[in-house]
Amino acid sequence: MANFSTDTVKVIDHPLVQHKLAILRDKYTGTQQFSDLISEIATFMCYEATRDLPLGPTPVETPICTCQAQMIDDRKLALVPILRAGTGMLDGARQAIPAAKVGHIGIYRDHETRQPVDYYAKFPAEIEKRRVLLLDPMLATGGTAVDAISKLKKCGVPGERIKFLCIIAAPEGLEIVQKAHPDVLVYTCHIDDYLNEDAYIVPGLGDAGDRIFGTK
Ligand code: URA
Repeated sequence: MANFSTDTVKVIDHPLVQHKLAILRDKYTGTQQFSDLISEIATFMCYEATRDLPLGPTPVETPICTCQAQMIDDRKLALVPILRAGTGMLDGARQAIPAAKVGHIGIYRDHETRQPVDYYAKFPAEIEKRRVLLLDPMLATGGTAVDAISKLKKCGVPGERIKFLCIIAAPEGLEIVQKAHPDVLVYTCHIDDYLNEDAYIVPGLGDAGDRIFGTK
């Protein structure tokens, strides 16, 4: 039985998100609709995950008069999808935060050892000064997420400035991420039941990468 605290996990239970998630789970949903939905959900997730961005007063001249409006103060944001499935969330995330810079992390899970293997990392300049939204639709064993977060921390990004956005989370993965990185907030649309013996999330939605890109 996985053991994690809900303190660092935010479940996005908005009806629009839950409705889209139901269609995503359906095995009869085709590639185009699946990838559109991943993108749309990512937009909503970024909306929630940026709720605490600091605002600062900015004078704006309306057609009527000048007023003090509010604009985001700290615009140093980075979106970092984990290759490959995380890139399916990127367009939607950029719709929500067009000014964000984009990095990529390539980590895969070795099918035999189930250990994460790093093969690529490219981050925007001054990553250590940015707030980072790390994107991966499925938090399964947690190995990839832990490794990607460690990589960002090694580059100087404090855990408090990293948010991990996954559409579905397995309890086992949440426990692993929380133990390794208790300072990182996880945003998810649903905490599913468990991981099966092949490390698939149950009920889940199958292999997210294959369903986004139509590979099998
Ligand atoms: N990755 C996926 O794409 N799906 C799972 O169920 C687990 C990991």
